[in-house]
Amino acid sequence: MKILVTGGAGFIGSAVARLAIARGHCVVNLDALTYAANLENVASVAGSPLYAFEHANILDRPALSRIFAAHRPDAVMHLAAESHVDRSIDGPGVFIETNVNGTYNMLEAARAYWTAEGRPEAFRFHHISTDEVFGSLGETGKFSEDSPYDPRSPYSASKAASDHLVRAWHETYGLPVVLTNCSNNYGPFHFPEKLVPLAILSALHGRPIPVYGDGGNVRDWLYVEDHADALLLCLEKGQVGRSYNIGGENEARNINLVRMICRHLDRVRPDGAPHERLITFVPDRPGHDRRYAIDPARIRTELGWRPSVTLKEGLRRTVAWYLANRDWWQPLLDRGEFGARLGTGPRMLAGAGDSSGGMEVS
Ligand SMILES: NC(=O)c1ccc[n+]([C@@H]2O[C@H](COP(=O)([O-])OP(=O)(O)OC[C@H]3O[C@@H](n4cnc5c(N)ncnc54)[C@H](O)[C@@H]3O)[C@@H](O)[C@H]2O)c1
Repeated sequence: MKILVTGGAGFIGSAVARLAIARGHCVVNLDALTYAANLENVASVAGSPLYAFEHANILDRPALSRIFAAHRPDAVMHLAAESHVDRSIDGPGVFIETNVNGTYNMLEAARAYWTAEGRPEAFRFHHISTDEVFGSLGETGKFSEDSPYDPRSPYSASKAASDHLVRAWHETYGLPVVLTNCSNNYGPFHFPEKLVPLAILSALHGRPIPVYGDGGNVRDWLYVEDHADALLLCLEKGQVGRSYNIGGENEARNINLVRMICRHLDRVRPDGAPHERLITFVPDRPGHDRRYAIDPARIRTELGWRPSVTLKEGLRRTVAWYLANRDWWQPLLDRGEFGARLGTGPRMLAGAGDSSGGMEVS
């Protein structure tokens, strides 16, 4: 199958591109290369005859039309998005542009192409979304596919809007769509502004590890390669017009997740132990959702999928990857822009690019 992957130079999109190519699919990676992108994420497949790259913005309709016509994909996996909640609080405009208007453009370009091709039944537009569209849970309960939408941040609201557009294009125009809503991902190639890599790199540099509020926020963590596997399954076997929730079955409070990372680092980098001394509680993010949890019954019973990597094993693999791949993250730290909101202003990892300020990590 030839798959047009948008956002394929980002964290999850690159995992999808790598896995799809490993399974013999052709991938056309369409990416605008924003701050969150890194072509190193797809370096392992860039030389493959199954891989092509298109530097384009999903806001550029003529470019999308050209790319559909030139590559004639069998399916679209739409991951391109602004993805960081903190950034959406400080600057919501680009989230509306990319996540809402960009998805609209992708739907219209896909619809025009699909119509010109004679409306093939096998075509798929797979929209990749988040569990954050369902809002915040209390101490109990889980999100099912029937949970009401209740987004509470500019990020989740923009993703919710894009989900509604995708469903509308199916109902109104018959576009064969599949949607997935996934819980928090972590793993290799994760941009260091997100909690797991921020915690790992802060700890390695002997810097404060920022944790919002009381650290009690609960997320359902999924190893990114498991997510990529679930996405390809939903693309190939998911029912048209249906959505599937994807979760890790690995609920953890942020503070416990960070402690797990610290304890693991104590074993593999004992010179910095105990890393937990670096944990620093910082004022909470506005509108911080308390708990997300996924009820994975549909994807498990209908498609036979469940995650294969436990949180402990996934964190072990992730820490090992960051220890072995300083060449990947050092240039990003040198930009010095991480943790700006976490910690209400001070850039928690700022200066970590200066080796005099941090410990040697590789
Ligand atoms: N990270 C998570 O935990 C998580 C969980 C569930 C769902 N999702 C969803 O999965 C998708 C991918 O998330 P991620 O964490 O890999 O994001 P990411 O920020 O790492 O990557 C996003 C990619 O999209 C590209 N992009 C951004 N704007 C673009 C535009 N206008 N045109 C073309 N390309 C553009 C960027 O260059 C980047 O390569 C997003 O849609 C996100 O909402 C993420």
